[in-house]
Amino acid sequence: MSSLHPETRVVHLPRPMPEASTPISMPIYQTSGFVFDDPAVFADGMGRPDGAYVYGRLSNPTVRALEEAVAGLEGGVAAVAAGSGMGAINAVLLGLLKSGDHVIAQSALYGATAQTLADLAERFGVEVTRVPEDDPAAVRAAVRPTTKLLYLETIANPMTQVADLPGMCAAAREAGILTVVDNTFASPVLCRPIEHGADIVVHSVTKYLSGHTDVVGGIAVFASEDVYRRVWSYAVELGATADPFAAWLTLRGMQTLPLRMERHCANARVLATRLAGHPAVAAVHWPGLPSHPSHELAAKLLPDFGGVFSFDLAGGRPAGEAFMRNVRLALLAPSLGGVETLILHPATTSHRTVSAAGLAAAGIGEGTVRVAVGIEHAEDLWADFAQALDAI
Ligand SMILES: Cc1ncc(COP(=O)(O)O)c(C=O)c1O
Repeated sequence: MSSLHPETRVVHLPRPMPEASTPISMPIYQTSGFVFDDPAVFADGMGRPDGAYVYGRLSNPTVRALEEAVAGLEGGVAAVAAGSGMGAINAVLLGLLKSGDHVIAQSALYGATAQTLADLAERFGVEVTRVPEDDPAAVRAAVRPTTKLLYLETIANPMTQVADLPGMCAAAREAGILTVVDNTFASPVLCRPIEHGADIVVHSVTKYLSGHTDVVGGIAVFASEDVYRRVWSYAVELGATADPFAAWLTLRGMQTLPLRMERHCANARVLATRLAGHPAVAAVHWPGLPSHPSHELAAKLLPDFGGVFSFDLAGGRPAGEAFMRNVRLALLAPSLGGVETLILHPATTSHRTVSAAGLAAAGIGEGTVRVAVGIEHAEDLWADFAQALDAI
């Protein structure tokens, strides 16, 4: 090296790797590719997820650490991380479906997922039947020879209906179709859908898994090696790849996931219970309240009821808009699952692409406000909500 010119030396920088010691924290492998001595090892790594690290779109050690961590938490065999929740969902749907296939999906779904299914139907002839999230008989009745997937959300966005995972997954298994569950709202702390018979679990990592509102990411976890390999191959083609720095931030955030979930759920209980008793509020939708249609099922399936709820103001949309303008501590912003409390108006934001009929079917009203409760002190949050309600 000493004979080389500076121009060459600055390009070929040293790459010392620790050999006798392992870092405590997973390092960020911020590299797009890896160097080989043996061309055969290089070639082998191109074709499979468990070969040598070759190229960042295929795999990366920091991303793999995240995949192994989430697969472990969810009880799956492997995972594919993606650049966003929608990246993971599309990698699964496009990787497993072809035109002419049929999907059964629950009625209440995150808006962009509902839009993806509608696009698949319109552009690729993938037919979709929507069923209630707690009706295994409706799944059995909807199954056709071309049915490939059942698609569910553990806790639906934003009205927090809880899916009957054991019943729905059993109906899918009897019919020989795979079940995909979006477990974003529950996180693996509250629910591990594979334990209830799911084949694939997807997450918007953007939410509780990363937890600090500084990452956009997604992941799909698989109960079987075969399905994992099929989706991995497609995700590599699609380029839905996760970024190593986002993976690293997520790993760091995940270390406090159980602690955060405990506080999110406890704060949601305080706010949801007090809002339900407030004269300006017409209804509160949180599965922890006995009035919620999913309460009984949720109490059997989940150790707690999650940190997201929605509520309808008695004064409809004008009251909802006033409330959103009046809050000071809670932030009017997209997303959920971070440390800070965020509120939004689903009909014009997260679910804006859903038709009026679709909104009505999902129970989303003009005056519905969604609250993603953070980990602040519950009394500070209640004081903010109370002043915002009083000022309507
Ligand atoms: C339940 C659910 N699934 C998937 C997504 C999509 O995730 P991302 O925004 O990371 O693509 C979201 C986003 O809000 C969501 O709430």
